[in-house]
Amino acid sequence: MSRAPSHRWPRPLPAEGTAAPGFHYGADYNPEQWPRDVWPEDIRLMREAGVTVVSLAIFSWARIQPAQDAWDFDWLDEIMDLLHQGGIAVDLATATASPPPWLTAAHPEILPVTATGETIWPGARQHWRPTSPVFREHALRLVTALAERYATHPALVAWHINNELGCHNVHDYSDDAARAFRAWLRTRHGSIDALNDAWGTAFWSQRYSDFDQILPPRLAASHPNPTQQLDFMRFSSDALKDHLRAERDILRRITPDVPVTTNFMVMGETKGMHYADWAAEVDFVSNDHYALPGPQSLDEMSFSANLTGNIAGGRPWFLMEHSTSAVNWQPVNVAKRPGELARDSLLHVAHGADAVCFFQWRQSAAGAEKYHSAMVPHAGPESDVFRAVTDLGATLRDLAPAAGTVRDPAPAAILFDWESWWASELDSHPTSRLRYRQEALDWYSAFLALGVRADVVPTGTPLDAYRMVVAPVLHMVPQSLAKELTRYVEGGGHLVTTYFSGIVDENDHAWLGGYPGPLRDLLGIRIEEFAPLLDDESAALDDGTSGTLWTDLITVTDPATETLARYTAGPAEGRAALTRRAAGPGSASYLSTRLGPEQLRGPLGRLLAAAGIERELPESAAGRVELTVRTDGANAFWFLVNRTEEPVPLTGIAGEVIGGAPRDPGAPRRVLPPRGVAVLRRQAP
Ligand code: GAL
Repeated sequence: MSRAPSHRWPRPLPAEGTAAPGFHYGADYNPEQWPRDVWPEDIRLMREAGVTVVSLAIFSWARIQPAQDAWDFDWLDEIMDLLHQGGIAVDLATATASPPPWLTAAHPEILPVTATGETIWPGARQHWRPTSPVFREHALRLVTALAERYATHPALVAWHINNELGCHNVHDYSDDAARAFRAWLRTRHGSIDALNDAWGTAFWSQRYSDFDQILPPRLAASHPNPTQQLDFMRFSSDALKDHLRAERDILRRITPDVPVTTNFMVMGETKGMHYADWAAEVDFVSNDHYALPGPQSLDEMSFSANLTGNIAGGRPWFLMEHSTSAVNWQPVNVAKRPGELARDSLLHVAHGADAVCFFQWRQSAAGAEKYHSAMVPHAGPESDVFRAVTDLGATLRDLAPAAGTVRDPAPAAILFDWESWWASELDSHPTSRLRYRQEALDWYSAFLALGVRADVVPTGTPLDAYRMVVAPVLHMVPQSLAKELTRYVEGGGHLVTTYFSGIVDENDHAWLGGYPGPLRDLLGIRIEEFAPLLDDESAALDDGTSGTLWTDLITVTDPATETLARYTAGPAEGRAALTRRAAGPGSASYLSTRLGPEQLRGPLGRLLAAAGIERELPESAAGRVELTVRTDGANAFWFLVNRTEEPVPLTGIAGEVIGGAPRDPGAPRRVLPPRGVAVLRRQAP
C-alpha cells in the first residue's frame, strides 16, 4: 500500500547569502505572537542564519477570521511582503489546525469524543472531529479564502495543510464518527453479511442485521471485537486522509502550480496515521521528528528518517520540524549538548531530507510551549543556540552539491508493515507486552552496530533490489503478501522473520493448520503453540544469547531447514529458536524470541555472512559511524555520522570532504569528533 508522492518541490527564492538551489532551511514562524516591531528584526536574523523558508499561519485561524464573517488579512499581507522582500519563501499553512473559540462556542458538535464518552473541550488545539461536516465546511471556507488571497503572492512556495493531522484527534468516537464509520464499512465490506464474516460476529452474539447498529469501539464490558478495532483504526486514518484531500483539492483548484504538503509524524509510537498510504496524496513528503530519550535515541532518529525517505519513494523530503534543543512535552526535557543540533539535522539530510526546519523560529514568551527551544531562544541571538543555528545555515550551504540527490538503496531492508503494527498490538493476545516498532528498531540498531546499511521500507515497496529483507513481527500476512515473500525468496532473496509473524489474514482471522500460516512451507517450520515469557523470565539459547517476551514450540518440518540456535531453558527447551531454510540461492529464516538490540548482533551477523552481505566501511569506523549514501548518478555522497562519544578516524575512506559539522571550512576532516558529521563526495560506482 505504499505509493510515492508526485514530488513537486517548493522552489527556493533566490536570495543573497542563501544557496539556491540547495537545501531549504527554516522554521515555523508565529509572528502574531510578537509585536509588529519585532518582525523586521526577525527577518534580519533569519537572513543572518541563512533561513530560506518559514511555515506561516499554522495556528492563526482566530487571528485571520476573528468571527464567522470577519476577516483580518492585513497583518498576514504585511508579513508575507516583508518575508518576500527579505528573500524568504513561505510554506503557508491553511490554518485549520486549531478552531477558534467563536466556532466551538457556536458549534460544540465539532468537538471530538473519547471512547469513554468524554468531550475533548477547546483550550488547547486540534479539538475537532475529522468527520464533522460542520468543521469541514468552516475549514474549507478558510482554505478557500487563504488560497484566493495569496494565490499570486511571490513569497508563496508551498501549502502546508493543517498541522500534524491526527496528533491529538485521530481516534474520535462521536456520533459523526459513528455515521462516517458505517459508510466506510459499507464501502469496504459491501454487505452486512460480508461484514459479519469479516468481523467474526458469530462470536459473543455480535451478529449485526443492519449497518445502523454498528458503533465505533467505545468503552465495552470486555475486549471489543478485534476486527472492529482494526477497521476503526483503518477508518480513522482514512478519515484524516479524507480531510487532507478535501483541503488539497481546493488548493490544487485555485493554485495548481503550488506544491502541497502536510507534516507527518514518523517518530516513536505515533501509529494512528498510515503515512505510507497518505504519501501519494501530497506533492512532497514532510516529517516532524523529535529526539526521544533513551539508549536508542539516535538509532530511532535514523530509523524514522530512513522510513520517511522510503515513504517519499527515495526522493528528497522536507524535515518540517525538529528542535534546536529541549522540548517541553516530556517528563524531563533535556537540552541538546554541543554538536547535537547540527548532528541531528544532518542525520535527516543523510537520509534524504532536502530541507531542515525547526519548531520554531522565536521561542514563545507565553503559552504552553514557552519552555520549548527555538532558533532564537529567550536569551536572544547572543546565545550558543543561535550561533549553532547560524553555523548550520552555513554548513547547509557547503553541502548544496548534495541537494536534490536521491537515496542510494541499502543492501538490506527492514519491512515495516503498518497493519501488522496495528494488529499485533491489539488486546487479548498471548502477551500484552509486544511492541511492534520496538522490535523493528532493535533490528535496525543491530544493523547500525554491525555497520551494514539497512533501509526501513513500508509494505508495498519492491523488495527485489534488497539482498536481505528482515520482516520482524510480520503479524498480518494476507495471501498476496505471502506470495510476494515466497517469490522474493525463490528469486534469491534472504528473508528473515520473527515470532508472531504470519498469524492472521487481513481480517485478523487466524491462519489454520499451524503457525506461521502461509509462511510455514517457506520457513520449513510449524508451530502448534506459542510460549510467551513472563516479565521476569528469559529463555537461554545455545549460542549464548537469551530471549525475553516470547518463545514458540517449533517443529522443523523440512529437511532443508537448519536449526542455527536452540533453547537450552524455558518452556521451549530443546526446541529450535533460530532456523534457516535454504531455498535455491535464497533463504528464509525465523527467530522465535526477542533478543533486543545488542544480542541480535550475533545472529544477524551470521545471517548476513550466509547471505554474503558485507559492511562498506573499514573496521575502524564500521558500527561507530553511521554511513548513508545519496547519489545523483555521477557522484555518491557519503554521509558519515559519529554515533559515539569518542573521536573516530576516517582512515581508509576515500572521497573529498565537502562539508560537515562542526563546521571546519578548508581543513579536510579525517577524524570525526564526538557527534561530528562529514560528507564525502566520491565517484558513483
Ligand atoms: C509538534 C507541533 C508543533 C509544536 C511541536 C513541539 O507536534 O506540530 O506545533 O507543538 O510539536 O515539539
